[in-house]
Amino acid sequence: MSRFISALAVALAATSSLAAEIPTNGLKEIPALGLGTWLSDRDKVDHAVEYALDNGYNHIDAAWIYRNEDQTGRGIAASELSRKDIWITSKLWNSFHRPSEVEAAIKTSISRLGVDYLDLYLIHWPVAFVPDEGTKLDKKTSIIDTWRALEDLVRANLTRHIGISNFAKSDVEEVLAVCEICPYAHEFETHPYLQQQDFIDWHAEVGVKVIAYSPLANTNPIYRRDAPPLLEDPYWKELAARKNATVAQAAIAWGFQRGTVVIPKSSHEKYIDENRDAAGIRFSKDEMADIAKHDRKIRMSNPSKNWGVQLFADLDDHLELEDETVGEL
Ligand SMILES: NC(=O)c1ccc[n+]([C@@H]2O[C@H](COP(=O)([O-])OP(=O)(O)OC[C@H]3O[C@@H](n4cnc5c(N)ncnc54)[C@H](OP(=O)(O)O)[C@@H]3O)[C@@H](O)[C@H]2O)c1
Repeated sequence: MSRFISALAVALAATSSLAAEIPTNGLKEIPALGLGTWLSDRDKVDHAVEYALDNGYNHIDAAWIYRNEDQTGRGIAASELSRKDIWITSKLWNSFHRPSEVEAAIKTSISRLGVDYLDLYLIHWPVAFVPDEGTKLDKKTSIIDTWRALEDLVRANLTRHIGISNFAKSDVEEVLAVCEICPYAHEFETHPYLQQQDFIDWHAEVGVKVIAYSPLANTNPIYRRDAPPLLEDPYWKELAARKNATVAQAAIAWGFQRGTVVIPKSSHEKYIDENRDAAGIRFSKDEMADIAKHDRKIRMSNPSKNWGVQLFADLDDHLELEDETVGEL
């Protein structure tokens, strides 16, 4: 009997060290609208998240590097929605690409967000840094080494899905060629000023969903100013007025209509409501074709120079770095 009890105790101890079960009745697919949290002030993001979740949103886009996952988690905990009805994405930072670092990194995000599991965990950039050495490139860790470690996170019930972010087409192909658990989604910059329609169509062909970040183009205040602010752009103002909408709503609705998931960030209730209400706006075929002609092919987010790596090499508006400064990915 005592042997039975101690065997039972060992079994229970082993079970309790496993990740929690992921509910099978959670959201089937990623919701089309999410709330972004990059640059969301630490003292505002909890309210923004709670407000959004209590007013029609069910998807939060977070990341370790945003340094506000704990406050984002407070907003999630305070909301009326239950965990299974919320889609939560987070991202693996470049310093944790070594397979030995990956599980601890997701567990940190999970714990800060105050949940038991994620819905989607992305490799934030196809660039590995040496742990604890700033942006020093880790040339020994490949994208595939890191991808294999992400696959194990799904097997360990730490995340329902895995994906990628900021990958060039050739990087995506590299993962698709070998994946056992394949990318659910690719999150990258795309908006009216950087449409990348061919790249988006290609993702549909290979079965990877696209999450459109910075959907309001240069509205993010840290982005470049050598294009008119999207919200002041006469073409978009006229188009939005025709729909009785704001420019932000028109840009978000256009993102929905071309099949991308859209994740605008705001910490203002007014904008959070406004962006949610983009859902009913539709464009005709001719309007969609005309919007395509107004692509400026301007990329706002590109750390290639700072990191000394050639990012987005086969995509619109990449930087050509001098050969000697380019790191191998
Ligand atoms: N994977 C990646 O590498 C990556 C990179 C960039 C972004 N992202 C994700 O994508 C999210 C969105 O991108 P983003 O933050 O760069 O840019 P964004 O959502 O296109 O723009 C955010 C800016 O627009 C303002 N805004 C939002 N709605 C508005 C409205 N209806 N009218 C007027 N202004 C409005 C916000 O103001 P307030 O905040 O002052 O309300 C904020 O300054 C990020 O928060 C992050 O979650 C991911």
